[in-house]
Amino acid sequence: MQNVAMSNDPLQQSIAAAEPVVTRDALRRPMHDLRISLLDRCNFRCPYCMPASEYHEDYEFLTRPERLTHEEILAVARAAAGLGVSKLRLTGGEPLLDRKLPELVAGLASLAGVDDLAMTTNAMLLAPLAKTLADAGLHRVTVSLDSLDEDVFRTMSGGRGDLGRVLAGIEAAEEAGLSPIKINVVVQRGVNDHTALELLSHFRGTPHIVRLIEFMDVGNRNGWQERQVVPSRELLTKIEARWPLRPVGRNYPAEVARRYQYLDGAGEIGFISSVTEPFCGACSRARLSADGTLYTCLFATHGTDLREPLRNGADDEEVSEILARTWLQRADRYSELRRPEIAEAHHFSKVEMYRIGG
Ligand SMILES: C[S@@+](CC[C@H](N)C(=O)[O-])C[C@H]1O[C@@H](n2cnc3c(N)ncnc32)[C@H](O)[C@@H]1O
Ligand code: SF4
Repeated sequence: MQNVAMSNDPLQQSIAAAEPVVTRDALRRPMHDLRISLLDRCNFRCPYCMPASEYHEDYEFLTRPERLTHEEILAVARAAAGLGVSKLRLTGGEPLLDRKLPELVAGLASLAGVDDLAMTTNAMLLAPLAKTLADAGLHRVTVSLDSLDEDVFRTMSGGRGDLGRVLAGIEAAEEAGLSPIKINVVVQRGVNDHTALELLSHFRGTPHIVRLIEFMDVGNRNGWQERQVVPSRELLTKIEARWPLRPVGRNYPAEVARRYQYLDGAGEIGFISSVTEPFCGACSRARLSADGTLYTCLFATHGTDLREPLRNGADDEEVSEILARTWLQRADRYSELRRPEIAEAHHFSKVEMYRIGG
């Protein structure tokens, strides 16, 4: 494989070499995934992400002209694929609020080099759309579902979620073959941690993979406090006491979840421990916000604007050059460096999770 960091012109080099391109950052991490936040709006108000007190009816979300069009998103994704990105994830905000999502999925699925096209969703609107999305070329979905207790679920969706509809969405996704389905659970102490085992019990024996996520200090508006974080280690001990587990290796080097299988064969679970066990070392994700800013870290304070060049007529080669340049300069590892003075410097200026999609 060729590293474009060695070359002045990544596209030309790769075409000439006719072999897979790898674009590596300053810490030698390849650009492998692109997360595309389609829109900043959401039909939920999860307090850990978009608390209703902050995101009220007068909040000014991006207007349609401020958001990238699907053609512009496709141009960025095409350039990323040309630089070695093989995995795309649609996220948000809530991606299912985009009425023309199936058309975009079809366009992304047809890009050369893309072998994994996934979507993260709260699944409220998924049931009627799952088959259409699968037919358009979506490979799989990750569904966020924080509790199976009706009251806890409602609280964690900011009073907007309907548990029955989310479960119907998961069922429809399974029928449509949008699998393996992952179920993301943000665990917050004193809020839903007491319901985590019940949720695991529900999905044991299914092919779905529940991933328990530590409540992260992303953004500046969710009132994050360390005492609300339930360390994965603590949860693991509790789970193992009920259902013995064995660790399994990563599917690929940059996989964020630590994987475990139930010893009794009832399936797989994972832990995403960004707070207690940061994983910047192999991070291969670029993130595109709905307004066309490229971020190279979930905890970024600044990004690279792609919308202006796109609207000023940048062709594929120019977009590719901006992407490559941004990635080659990347040296972010906020999670690993998480220290009070850095956190202080980041305070009030980090980009919000719903803008770059988790
Ligand atoms: C921002 S959401 C966007 C996609 C979609 N609306 C959903 O909820 O699946 C993507 C993921 O980020 C997670 N998330 C949001 N805020 C978080 C936080 N503070 N800590 C950990 N995970 C968070 C959500 O639980 C979700 O799984
Ligand atoms: S986590 Fe997803 S569903 Fe919840 S508010 Fe954020 S974007 Fe919306």
